[in-house]
Amino acid sequence: MPNRILSGMQPSGRLHLGNLLGALDNWRLLQKDHECFFFVADWHALSTNYEDTSRIKEFVQELLIDWLAAGINPDRAIVFVQSRIPDHAILHLLLSMMIPIPWLERNPTYKEKQEQIQDRDLSTFGFLGYPVLQAADILLYKADAVPVGKDQLPHLELTREIARRFNSLYQPVFPEPKELLTEFPKVVGTDGRKMSKSYGNTINLSDPELVVREKLKTMVTDPARVRRRDPGNPDVCPVFEFHHIFSPQPIIDQVNRECRTAEIGCIDCKKFVADAMVQRLSPIWEARATLLNNPHIIEEVVHQGCERATKVSHQTLEEVKAAMKI
Ligand code: TRP
Ligand code: SF4
Repeated sequence: MPNRILSGMQPSGRLHLGNLLGALDNWRLLQKDHECFFFVADWHALSTNYEDTSRIKEFVQELLIDWLAAGINPDRAIVFVQSRIPDHAILHLLLSMMIPIPWLERNPTYKEKQEQIQDRDLSTFGFLGYPVLQAADILLYKADAVPVGKDQLPHLELTREIARRFNSLYQPVFPEPKELLTEFPKVVGTDGRKMSKSYGNTINLSDPELVVREKLKTMVTDPARVRRRDPGNPDVCPVFEFHHIFSPQPIIDQVNRECRTAEIGCIDCKKFVADAMVQRLSPIWEARATLLNNPHIIEEVVHQGCERATKVSHQTLEEVKAAMKI
């Protein structure tokens, strides 16, 4: 069992069900029996949004609200914001002195993102160095394990290479962090594709009940089921995937049976799923409302989190400087 866990998210808008089930639920469970550091990677957001920074602050705030509402517990986890701990920048700089540029140039996410994002110029120093900043985030706290999605594996591998290089050039300071792959299968969006902000098919934690119900009403179903009397096939219906996640077993069984015989219609079927989803989201909505009305709670959590994180990061930086004799 790894004892120290660290993970971060970029502030890039509101969290949706995919983020909740794929990452946050996992963090929530990890904080029960591990020492956890969870932070908002707002400097990382600059690497792709340096031209328009106008909404980053607001996104940081929203992310923190969503985290706490979804059950990240500041009594158990250290919650902080990257840009409030300058040690991340210092370690980033020191590491940058010893990292060969080809290591960064052959990073697959570097190439992929540059191809994906055509409307911005990403041929910047900061974007190339994205994984160096991420390595600094992780190594500064000597994390044993980092819960991430598959897309982040190259960054974890690079972090280990950077740790090894530092340790062999100077003194062994950094443990090599392991990845904790988040296993939850992809969450489907309202259009049947993977739920993703860039597809505009998300159900957000901040969506009010009426919006959630409305989104489900217009969600795609088995495309072969055109009329009410047509039998359907739940196995190809995205709505049924939501049933599997949210509905109690008797409802799942009922839908599975009655859809195939056209006993149940899509409208009623979706109402069941909406009820189950609303039940799951209600406590999150309540917590969000409380936090929105009491912004000082967030500030207090971040203030304390930064203080606790800084104790660890200062200690590591002292060891780094001693190892480098500077
Ligand atoms: N790159 C991560 C992402 O986009 C965010 C991140 C930044 C991170 N620093 C980290 C994740 C350190 C884990 C550990 O999802
Ligand atoms: Fe999908 Fe439910 Fe309609 Fe069957 S009844 S096609 S599972 S929405």
